[in-house]
Amino acid sequence: RIVYVNGAYLPEEEATISIFDRGFIFGDGIYEVSAVLGGKLVDCEAHLARLERSAGEIGLELPCSRAELVAIHQELISRNNLDEGSIYLQVSRGAADRDFPFPKGVKASLVLFTQARQFANTPLAKTGIKVVSTPDLRWARRDIKSVNLLAPVLAKQFAAENGAQEAWMIEDGVVTEGASSTAWIVKGKTLISRPLSHKVLPGITRTAVLAFLAESGFTFEEREFTLEEALDAEEAFITSATSLVMPVTTIDGHSIHNGAPGPATIRLREIYLDHAR
Ligand code: PDD
Repeated sequence: RIVYVNGAYLPEEEATISIFDRGFIFGDGIYEVSAVLGGKLVDCEAHLARLERSAGEIGLELPCSRAELVAIHQELISRNNLDEGSIYLQVSRGAADRDFPFPKGVKASLVLFTQARQFANTPLAKTGIKVVSTPDLRWARRDIKSVNLLAPVLAKQFAAENGAQEAWMIEDGVVTEGASSTAWIVKGKTLISRPLSHKVLPGITRTAVLAFLAESGFTFEEREFTLEEALDAEEAFITSATSLVMPVTTIDGHSIHNGAPGPATIRLREIYLDHAR
């Protein structure tokens, strides 16, 4: 694999970052994950707009322009012959002797790499995924896509140990979101997902799904929902750059409806794939 690190395209074995990098030492950095389908970037501009917002919220100056970032994404797709998979981008506040306040005159570190994966034809889309619930242990600014992912790592590990692919995090009696995805339920022709706030990441895939609501014949109810309501829903699903639109067929071992992906989720996934390709 050819990866990108601070201006250079290198074989992954040769790419290095300082042990003093603040991303490594403090988790002082932000990231994005975007999908590549059929060799094409999916919603790249929207991901980079969110990156710019995250950077602004933590007072981090990005080391290059949006156009340069798009060009790096495209160069990596081409150098790695990537047809389907994801691109991970991380920006940290750079390398400096360990001290909490922002260092002066230090340039941000920028790293990008690709991961080849089958997102469109994954067998999970046919069976649906299993979800487990777990308390939401994250910080108070989840709208910033920070590299501090210890709570999601623990939640995903808990899911894996219980044979599940995703964890839905619970706070104040309601589902906040998946450890790395937006949570949705379906009742009739209505899609339900919670409003955006500091408590959740504003999902790019969420916005994409909402953009084709009219075309899909669904309506949207933006509100919080409880785990009990999800267990009783006709369908449940998640959205993210890497899961696209993915049916959830069991939660905490209980089947949702008849335990098979429902028609609304299947339809939304089809429409999303048409949009993304
Ligand atoms: N995660 N919520 C959280 C907490 C996330 O980490 C993600 C994405 C989403 C969905 O956002 P989007 O639709 O823009 O991918 C929601 C990525 C895929 C990750 O960390 O791997």
